[in-house]
Amino acid sequence: MKDNWRISNRVAQIQESAIHEMTRLSKEVEDVAFLSWAKPTSDTPEHIKEGAISAIRDGLVGGYSPSSGLLELREEIVKKLKKYNNIEANPFQIIVTVGAVEGLSAAVMAVIEPGDEVIFPSPTYSTHIQEVVLASGKPVIVPLIEEEGFIWDIDAVRKAITPKTKAIMYASPSNPTGTVFSEKQLRQLADIALENNLMVITDEAYEYFVYDDKKHFCMGSIPEMKKNVISCFTFTKNYAMTGWRVGYLHADEEIIPHITKAHIPFAICAPVVSQYAALAALKGSQDCIKDFRDHYQKMRNLMCERLDKLDSIFEYQKPEGSYLMFPKILTEEGKDSTTFCKRLLKEARVSTTPGIAFGPTGEGHLRLSFCVSEDEINKAFDRMDKYFK
Ligand SMILES: Cc1ncc(COP(=O)(O)O)c(C=O)c1O
Repeated sequence: MKDNWRISNRVAQIQESAIHEMTRLSKEVEDVAFLSWAKPTSDTPEHIKEGAISAIRDGLVGGYSPSSGLLELREEIVKKLKKYNNIEANPFQIIVTVGAVEGLSAAVMAVIEPGDEVIFPSPTYSTHIQEVVLASGKPVIVPLIEEEGFIWDIDAVRKAITPKTKAIMYASPSNPTGTVFSEKQLRQLADIALENNLMVITDEAYEYFVYDDKKHFCMGSIPEMKKNVISCFTFTKNYAMTGWRVGYLHADEEIIPHITKAHIPFAICAPVVSQYAALAALKGSQDCIKDFRDHYQKMRNLMCERLDKLDSIFEYQKPEGSYLMFPKILTEEGKDSTTFCKRLLKEARVSTTPGIAFGPTGEGHLRLSFCVSEDEINKAFDRMDKYFK
């Protein structure tokens, strides 16, 4: 019997995420300047907390909701999808999930057979790859074109397709690069999906955080793609609700019962108290989203200005969305991003994430988060200025 017989091959293949490792190591460093977590630092707005508190007081949260989520919440989600994402939906095409990640996992479980290939951009959000590995699927990496702003290489996607290809999975706006994939590129991907009968699983966690004249385009809004897209969303980023663990997905009504079969063993339903908070988020003022976006845009500009002064160390593509960016490290030492980031943490007290955590073409880069305060960014860059001198 093999030594690690207790652990499945699926799980054994998954390594500790560099994000969690850096968080752990950062805790050992006093007064660290923290640019390594993609988590909003703002607290959840008061009216959303109030929604949860009144639901608790009214005795509404002690039981399960329907697996697909409270009907009232799904009705509000339908309105939001129409207004913001240009998606015509009904409540039976929605599942309320435990954040975006559980929706993505349930979607992957529902469509991926062992050995099926799933195409990813590289660099990409590593959790997506883990979700496919857990379903015994095979991740296939297609490098993005960095010099053009980390855009898709559409010809390379075509070339990566084999008889085993089942799906394409991406986040836009992207973690870690901050790219907002253009409508033109997403329509080209949709054409490839239709020609080859592929499913597209989208992660739109940062949908509202797009800057300058960029627009978020939802592949689920293309009518011909109705049966070929599962679109995953979350309350985590838009409403600073990371710990509430609530999100949702939209898919064709025929697929929903199958995704629900995968969702139930992981979750039964999303936390009911969080579903009431989500309801308050959708029904209440949307000003917080604009406030968060304005803040992140300012922080992005500040981070780019500070990086410009370190142009012998870093070269970067200006992020168009999310609150993350992915500079290339120009020094010899930067070729090993893990060692580079660990030294930066130890010697300059700046916490960042090594690019290798986001796929093979992420090596030689580091990820920086700008969802922090101006002081935090200045503190980190003052230290880096000194360190690299
Ligand atoms: C692209 C992307 N998707 C999903 C998530 C997690 O979303 P949730 O908290 O809704 O599960 C993150 C968190 O960093 C992310 O960057």
